[in-house]
Amino acid sequence: MTRLLGISGSLRAGSYNTALLHAAAELLPTGVELEVATVHGIPLYDGDAEEKDGIPAAVEALKDKLAACDGLVLCTPEYNHSVPGVLKNAIDWMSRPGADKERVFGGRPVALLGASPSGFGTVLAQNAWLPVFRILGMRYWCGRELMVSGAHKVFDDQGKLQDETVRDLLRKHMAGFTDFVRG
Ligand code: FNR
Repeated sequence: MTRLLGISGSLRAGSYNTALLHAAAELLPTGVELEVATVHGIPLYDGDAEEKDGIPAAVEALKDKLAACDGLVLCTPEYNHSVPGVLKNAIDWMSRPGADKERVFGGRPVALLGASPSGFGTVLAQNAWLPVFRILGMRYWCGRELMVSGAHKVFDDQGKLQDETVRDLLRKHMAGFTDFVRG
């Protein structure tokens, strides 16, 4: 079994990005499972709090999920033409302490997804993640790109992916990333 972890960078109950991950989980090749996680419960990074109390339980839990998976699917909203603060904050916490970074991120395959109501579908946010993956020593899969634009028209009110073209692209994205993960 190939185990993927999906992390959505939105806290919204009606998030298009969380919905996109749930759709991805239904469009996987045989022998693959995708667990959908969010960054709920992760506090703002504070070096004083880290020194006093260590790594918060919600961060440790997500770190352990990442360390145990075969590949990460990071599903990113775009805020002000870059990465959303809540998701960057979560990744920053997860990179602490530095001595644990290799266990959690080192050499781990990572793919990007993103959804936005705009016409450009997170292209700038996805691009902005690349230096982060590099410093964390992750293996970014660049075999395909999927930026879901016009997200408000692509999902229904229950967050189900309705658009057949996007479904097909998402299926191909997950198949390509699975091949990369399996080497
Ligand atoms: C946005 N949004 C947005 N969209 C985009 O395509 N490019 C952008 O630069 C921005 N900037 C931006 C800034 C801030 C502060 C907010 C709150 C929103 C819109 C964004 O794509 C939209 O809110 C999505 O619905 C967010 O993703 P979720 O929550 O649906 O997953």
